[in-house]
Amino acid sequence: MTSRDTLSDELALVAAASRLIVREPSLPAVLAGAARLLTEALSADGCLAYRIEGNGELVVAATYPERLAPAEPLRLPSGFGVTGRVAADQIPAVLVDDNPRNVLHRELLGLVPGQLVSRLCVPARPPEGGCTAVLAVHSFQRREFASWEIDAAQRVADLVGLRVQLQRESSALGAFEDRWERLVAATVTAQEDERRRVAGDLHDGVTQALASLTFHLSAAEVALADRDYDFVTDQVRAARAAADLAFAEARHAISGLHSPVLDDLGLAAGLVSMARAIPNLQVEVDAQDIDLPEHVEAALFRIAQEAVQNVVKHADATRAFVSLAKRGRSVVLRVSDDGRGFVAPGPISGVVHGRSAASQFGLMGMYERVQLLGGHLSVRSEAGDGTTVEAVIPDAAG
Ligand SMILES: Nc1ncnc2c1ncn2[C@@H]1O[C@H](COP(=O)(O)OP(=O)(O)OP(=O)(O)O)[C@@H](O)[C@H]1O
Ligand SMILES: [Mg+2]
Repeated sequence: MTSRDTLSDELALVAAASRLIVREPSLPAVLAGAARLLTEALSADGCLAYRIEGNGELVVAATYPERLAPAEPLRLPSGFGVTGRVAADQIPAVLVDDNPRNVLHRELLGLVPGQLVSRLCVPARPPEGGCTAVLAVHSFQRREFASWEIDAAQRVADLVGLRVQLQRESSALGAFEDRWERLVAATVTAQEDERRRVAGDLHDGVTQALASLTFHLSAAEVALADRDYDFVTDQVRAARAAADLAFAEARHAISGLHSPVLDDLGLAAGLVSMARAIPNLQVEVDAQDIDLPEHVEAALFRIAQEAVQNVVKHADATRAFVSLAKRGRSVVLRVSDDGRGFVAPGPISGVVHGRSAASQFGLMGMYERVQLLGGHLSVRSEAGDGTTVEAVIPDAAG
């Protein structure tokens, strides 16, 4: 063969290998294709493509012809035989009269006892360094591989190495993208939870204090017209206290802290204090002192606040009753009234998804708080027959 012929053969081989690594999406198919190209271009009898594992083990990943493929995956220990040496040294090796020791390996090549084989083994070297595969061409006829053949085979192997590196990088990128997406989803959920908490705390804590403030200021206005200055003074003091509470509640909601009432009194006494501050409604409280985690206390206090506020706003009731009790390891909060009642939503989730007015936040907020604690909220009400809201939080009581 003239050097011009060998050059054009080499170029044709490298061009075919380039097309293969660019177009073929599956890595095993790239290895199988490279094994075929090398066998045909070098007029050999076959080629085995070994993948090099992270621990240096050699795994037969593809064969040409395909019928050589072992029935069971063939693994050879790190550094085994000429293939292992080529993987470790990253330089090609030619064996003219090889007599492989491994029985499985001999079977793989179809060698009868004593039969020798000529082999050319080339390492697939990715640009980042190392060796990710070895292509081992074999010929049953004794032959010495020409230097252009060794060069051509090495170029093909290096293209395979490049492809293996790209594959690894793209799967690392895919894993990174997955992690990134999970992180974004978790961040959005956390933001949403925080937004709900702030909205809930503002709604249940601040608006209740502001409603009380409005009530006392209106009463003071009426008393002022009647020149009943003692009553005006009482109302202005009460309004001042409500304004202070609204301010403190807003500050606590924004900073994510406990309600100030809870911080000062704890849940049972906090419920009594909250009930006392309700104007124009007799609210009886029967609250057991129960050892509860802070976040459960906070949620139950907010639920009670909103339920009582609903009685004030909607029930037209004369009396309301708040109870807090332990039932086994569950804690049960109940707020009932003797008011006009309403058409209670069926399962409470119906309210959440079906509520029509965007302003109706209360029942939805109660539901969400209970749901976050793994509990259950029920609202029993019938027109003319009062309303009972009950929150049951399992496994909360110590
Ligand atoms: N104790 C009650 N007695 C009578 N009707 C009630 C009672 N509690 C709730 N409701 C009815 O259920 C509706 C929904 O209550 P919800 O607390 O979700 O919204 P809201 O009180 O109207 O507005 P928000 O709580 O957002 O200020 C109320 O508008 C009212 O019609
Ligand atoms: Mg409400």
